[in-house]
Amino acid sequence: MLLMKAVFAPRPLVLASVSSPSSSRGGARRCDVIRAQSSSSSPTTPPTKKKGKKGLKKTQKQPQQQQQPGGGGASSSSSSAVVQKAVAEVAKKKEEDDGPQIPFGDASGAALLLKDVFLAVADTDLLQEANAQIMSGQKIGLVGGNGCGKSTLLKCIAGVRSIQDGEIIISSKLNVGYFEQTAVSGSTKTVYEEARARMTRLNKAEAALREAERVCESENCEDYCEAADVLMDCYAEFEAAGGNDAEKRIAAVLDGLGFSRKQWDFKCDNLSGGWQMRVALARLLLSPAGSEENGLLLLDEPTNHLDEISKKWLADWIKKSPNTTVIVSHEESLLDGACSHIMEVRAKGLHWYVGNYSKFLQDRDERVRVAQASYNKLAAEAADLKDFVARFSANASKAAQASSRAKLLIKVETEMRKLEREAAANFSEGEAGDSTKMALRLSKPPPSDQDVLMMENAVLGYKKESPILKSKDGKEFKLSREMRVVVLGPNGAGKSTLLKSLAGTMPLLEGTRTLGERVKLGVFSQDLAQELPMDKQALEYVLETARVENPLLKEIEGRQSLGALGISGPMALRKIGSLSGGEKARVALAAFVLQPRNVLLLDEPSNHLDVGAVSALTDGLQDWDGALFAVSHNKGFCESLRPTHVVRVEKGEFIIENCYGLTDEDFEHDYPEEGDASSDAMSKKEEEEQLVAVAA
Ligand SMILES: Nc1ncnc2c1ncn2[C@@H]1O[C@H](COP(=O)(O)OP(=O)(O)OP(=O)(O)O)[C@@H](O)[C@H]1O
Ligand SMILES: [Mg+2]
Repeated sequence: MLLMKAVFAPRPLVLASVSSPSSSRGGARRCDVIRAQSSSSSPTTPPTKKKGKKGLKKTQKQPQQQQQPGGGGASSSSSSAVVQKAVAEVAKKKEEDDGPQIPFGDASGAALLLKDVFLAVADTDLLQEANAQIMSGQKIGLVGGNGCGKSTLLKCIAGVRSIQDGEIIISSKLNVGYFEQTAVSGSTKTVYEEARARMTRLNKAEAALREAERVCESENCEDYCEAADVLMDCYAEFEAAGGNDAEKRIAAVLDGLGFSRKQWDFKCDNLSGGWQMRVALARLLLSPAGSEENGLLLLDEPTNHLDEISKKWLADWIKKSPNTTVIVSHEESLLDGACSHIMEVRAKGLHWYVGNYSKFLQDRDERVRVAQASYNKLAAEAADLKDFVARFSANASKAAQASSRAKLLIKVETEMRKLEREAAANFSEGEAGDSTKMALRLSKPPPSDQDVLMMENAVLGYKKESPILKSKDGKEFKLSREMRVVVLGPNGAGKSTLLKSLAGTMPLLEGTRTLGERVKLGVFSQDLAQELPMDKQALEYVLETARVENPLLKEIEGRQSLGALGISGPMALRKIGSLSGGEKARVALAAFVLQPRNVLLLDEPSNHLDVGAVSALTDGLQDWDGALFAVSHNKGFCESLRPTHVVRVEKGEFIIENCYGLTDEDFEHDYPEEGDASSDAMSKKEEEEQLVAVAA
């Protein structure tokens, strides 16, 4: 190839069937949807038409048919037939278009328009006449409590379900990429292959180049000059597609998301769910939707499995990307770092704020303050008017004045009611997802020995030949019943391995693990919500789970536990599969807290939960006085646990220390060195083998 480059001077691109920037866009004129593997339980089927409160009955405007790539553009007359055929085949290569129906159209200069959108699921209205105009390049944080409708709205924008009324229009120019809340790649490719799978222009250019090289080098080539011309054209396109720095970009994204070089060759379907989500995210970020000006990226809770440093990296990537992005998240650091605007779903409306999340919180408070001041002023005015009307209506000389003030009073009272409605929108209670009133109570810890969990000379990992962690200086690890421990360390350093080893779900490679007398161990992991039986009712699941330990548990107690987390009334009888991400996490939590435990091992318990639910959980944990061992990347959450100790996991070792307060540095880590242990990305198969071994 280098030889070819030296022999033939570069020429302008003439090979039309190799993707040009615009045809590459055509190649990606589909929504790159990263979805959960099992869709049977996913409530994504379009709902039946529903008549809105205002008698609305239109349905969502039919999306435009997507353009197919490679249209127009004559083939170069100088291309050899063989190369042309090969190139055409590459360009034709399966643009499967049976996916979502993206609502493309004329968005009047905006990237995305929402016009009088009415959205409902089953009998619940989520949005009524919601409007928004998102301009190109804006980074929008879509926020709101668990269950308010963020994921459902994002699905409608991505075209995987429909709204009941109004219009959603995405500018026809855009490439759309959608990352679902429970995305799992499920691919059989390697991490590296999957990451670059949607770099469509580059992949086509590279394939064409390889083919052109092959033809040039072939002994049967009929016209070497012509073939060499084509080769140069292919090379030019490869360069234009960013071929020369593609590896750098891929590396930046995979590094940023916490993959070690060793993991690049891991097969995706062998990775655990959390790591598959990262692969899916990498793929989207590198696709046109994630990296080009004409991209629209729709991300639903992309940080649930990322550590603090990856979250910061992601926020930075999104902020710097020239594309337009809509991110659903409960993660303040991401919303602060990435967003130029915030769109809040509240009281069935969309509320628009300029600035990042912190600015939104301030502005919302300010809006409330201003509204309250206006309301007070109007109330005083109304009182004066009422007084005047009452005193002078019967007075002939002032009757006319009294009548005009009575009219004014009606206006003032109308204005007051409007403000009341707006205030309700700001402080809505009892709305789906409103969690301000939640209170979580954990079962009282049953008595146990002083020392609850010990490990001696412990070496941890999956394989003897490549251990992941050992205790620093061979120190004994001892968890006593009054200890509250948070685990700190970078992605892949082995925090989950430590937790699994302590839990006993992963046997030690060396050393001993001892459980104290009368210890009742409870493990709450980040994946629990995703592993719930989707076809069971929420209450049924909670009762079944809690009754394993406590067969006499009454139904009312199950209901109370769910109700305390905002899952009450008919919602408690809904199938788990139809609940939102945060609602599922609450169901898992409701079942968990009903079981009497004296040692809790928590692995990222705050994922998916909104602010109110996280604070209910932390309140519950603060009042609970058993031994606590928590892995979390969320500094606020860790602080609120009031840790007495920290375990630092780094460079293949762990050590327990007293905690005198947590700092930002505690949550900012360097990535593990190449070749370092990377336990969290251990293959699913290996994990399963281990679990089978434990069970046996
Ligand atoms: N098939 C269904 N039947 C009844 N309600 C449903 C169905 N599907 C979804 N819902 C409800 O619609 C509401 C909105 O769900 P959605 O997933 O959009 O919420 P969300 O804002 O993304 O919440 P989270 O922050 O928890 O992810 C939830 O209360 C959910 O339970
Ligand atoms: Mg959601």
